[in-house]
Amino acid sequence: MQNPFTISFGKKPEQYISRISITQEITEMFNSERPSTQAYMVVGVRGAGKTVMLSNISKELREDADWIVMELNPTRDILESFAAKLYALPEMNRLFIDAKLDLSLLGMGVTIEKGVKISDVEQAISSMMEVIKKKKKRVLVTIDEVTINQYVREFASAFQIFIRSEYPLFLIMTGLYENINSIQNDKSLTFLYRTPKVVLEALNISAITGTYKRVFKATEEDARYMAGLTKGYPFAFQVLGYLVWKRREKKADIDYRSLCETIMPEYDQMLQEYVYEKIWDELSVKERQVVEKLSGAEAMKVKDIRDSIGYDSNTFTVYRNRLIKKGIVESVGYGMLSITLPRFDVFVQGII
Ligand SMILES: Nc1ncnc2c1ncn2[C@@H]1O[C@H](COP(=O)(O)OP(=O)(O)OP(=O)(O)O)[C@@H](O)[C@H]1O
Ligand SMILES: [Mg+2]
Repeated sequence: MQNPFTISFGKKPEQYISRISITQEITEMFNSERPSTQAYMVVGVRGAGKTVMLSNISKELREDADWIVMELNPTRDILESFAAKLYALPEMNRLFIDAKLDLSLLGMGVTIEKGVKISDVEQAISSMMEVIKKKKKRVLVTIDEVTINQYVREFASAFQIFIRSEYPLFLIMTGLYENINSIQNDKSLTFLYRTPKVVLEALNISAITGTYKRVFKATEEDARYMAGLTKGYPFAFQVLGYLVWKRREKKADIDYRSLCETIMPEYDQMLQEYVYEKIWDELSVKERQVVEKLSGAEAMKVKDIRDSIGYDSNTFTVYRNRLIKKGIVESVGYGMLSITLPRFDVFVQGII
């Protein structure tokens, strides 16, 4: 039998732990009569499952005939590709032509006799959204891995205008905390400031335990032990499952604890090569200092870390908050901090 766990990114894994509450919150909001928001930002550390969640929501809405879903690339001219994709929709193209929308000046379609010649891309999108609205359909645009650039700025400010015109247009963007944050704080994009942010946190440990128990026919205790090793981090859940599946022998009573011990070096190596090195590279020097201190213990008092690196309370709070928002550090109990990602401490200890 093929390994049911996957170490590739972005594809829906076979062993999938559902994030019911977040997915439902978004789909129910978008499906409601008068949605109070038409956009969400999904934030999470690398490997937290942003792309998987985005594809999941897209898939669910695509199955609904009322929805048109399109994925746009943030490194290209977003407005232009949005217009082109709308125009090319097989179920809508006829209606656009019937509505005499002539987008030939924008390089789309052909000249229409007595048509309305449109030369502005935002105008083109508005006119098409008008037709779509009459057909009572809704459009979801997804943009994965946003960073701040001119295309994202242009799209976001146009989106604001489309929403004001009451078009049935919806948006989900995903990104790392630092990127989403700089987009939200861009002075020209005030509406994104109010866009709800959904933070992808750890997967439910009981759900992970249940999956390991089922897939490996392990005891509750062993499965819980393995789940603990992943700390609920989605990528680690796949990697550990993948390695245990690969290395286990086909005998009835496997000692999962010693098996996990033998695969630990491989587990560490995969986490490091696939994500931790990147995460580390993206931290600032000061953030690294904090993480370095934390990597020496299970959990530490804020005060002790602060004193040992010589920061005053305000400076330290800035870095602490940023690391928490990035999903790398968490508060555990009063005044205590700890590293969120599994085996990240081992990784850090290995490079300092
Ligand atoms: N809900 C889930 N249940 C089980 N595994 C998951 C889940 N979500 C994601 N994964 C696994 O975690 C890994 C990372 O998922 P994904 O590619 O969605 O992360 P990401 O947040 O988009 O990362 P990046 O920031 O690097 O793009 C994949 O191996 C995927 O199979
Ligand atoms: Mg991704």
